[in-house]
Amino acid sequence: MPTHTLLLLPGDGIGPEVMAEVEKVLAWLGANGPAAFEVTRGLVGGCAIDAHGVPVSDADMAKAEAADAVLLGAVGGPKWDGVPYEIRPEAGLLRLRKDLGLFANLRPAICHAALADASSLKRELVEGLDILIVRELTGGVYFGEPKQIVDLGNGQKRGIDTQVYDTYEIERIARVAFELARLRSGRVVSSEKRNVMMSGVLWHQTVSALHARHYPEVQLRHELADALGMKLVQAPKQFDVIVTDNLFGDMLSDVAAMLTGSLGMLPSASLGEADPVTKRRKALYEPVHGSAPDIAGRGIANPLAMLGSLAMALRYSFDMGAEADRLERAIAQALAEGHRTADIARPGEPTVSTSAMGDAVLAALAA
Ligand code: NAD
Ligand code: IPM
Ligand code: MN
Repeated sequence: MPTHTLLLLPGDGIGPEVMAEVEKVLAWLGANGPAAFEVTRGLVGGCAIDAHGVPVSDADMAKAEAADAVLLGAVGGPKWDGVPYEIRPEAGLLRLRKDLGLFANLRPAICHAALADASSLKRELVEGLDILIVRELTGGVYFGEPKQIVDLGNGQKRGIDTQVYDTYEIERIARVAFELARLRSGRVVSSEKRNVMMSGVLWHQTVSALHARHYPEVQLRHELADALGMKLVQAPKQFDVIVTDNLFGDMLSDVAAMLTGSLGMLPSASLGEADPVTKRRKALYEPVHGSAPDIAGRGIANPLAMLGSLAMALRYSFDMGAEADRLERAIAQALAEGHRTADIARPGEPTVSTSAMGDAVLAALAA
């Protein structure tokens, strides 16, 4: 029986609450599935600052490098608002993404039939929605230099961030989008702001050239990012695969999340380049949502984004597509049976706890 190594980084706020549901499902899969899991645990975010003075320790980075996959809950919270910028909780997550080379962030937004009324949009706009946002994750304004606050000496300061993209970074993320589109509807929308940004001009040119050279059978459309935001809430079902940069992808995926009913529904996979020999990819799986300080500690967070992230790990890191499908069907089943955490409940509808939602998924999995 193959053994897969998995590093769990629950993080802060609701991170540990939703990760507890992953542990239940992993225990079930270990006992009932085709593979064994060797699970290790580590710290990232505010909890790592408290324990080690840094948002991720070198020892935990080494564990992440060695694992077949990393599962992360969420980082951040008001407790660490005052820490120096360089060691804020989010810096731990950014280091994991950058140092592991996780440039491809897949954020699927699927509106489950049972949740079509939970969206803030009308049912007919979101029912059957199935979008895949492919977000570039290791470049752009998140990492460009210089990034600093300069004292201008006249009582004024200047905050500087730098948006940078090289051709190879755009090509490799566009390739991921085109390849995935071939397995779906064959349609890609690429988004930037070439009307105001040079990196947008290069993005547009590079994606167009790659398309013409290697993917002529895929239908490619370009949308300026502001217009795309508008169209995502106007008529979201026109979209299939969307490829965009780090910052636009961050914003557009929170928008897409609300189409599905809640930020608590959106899973993600962050993947590196495949090793040419072993074909192994470094990978981290995490919900799109954050640590939700407003509800942390109450046991009411929605664990489905976290469990959906585990399903993505089964599919992309462990070659367990059948088990991934089965877990995703169990999530859909729990929703169809009417289990609702508070974020996806309609006014007056009864709600369940994080743990009860995990149990409902587990029961559907075992059925
Ligand atoms: P958030 O995603 O934590 O919360 C936004 C809203 O969505 C809140 O009202 C929250 O209660 C709700 N929500 C989020 N996840 C939910 C879930 N699973 N179930 C039910 N409701 C849920 O965003 P924020 O409040 O802007 O950020 C809080 C902290 O999280 C910040 O420190 C931020 O940097 C961090 N953050 C971390 C990640 C990550 O670790 N990947 C992602 C986003 C934000
Ligand atoms: C996300 C988060 C992160 C991001 C933060 C916490 C660094 O918002 O994963 O969407 O901006 O990428
Ligand atoms: Mn975000």
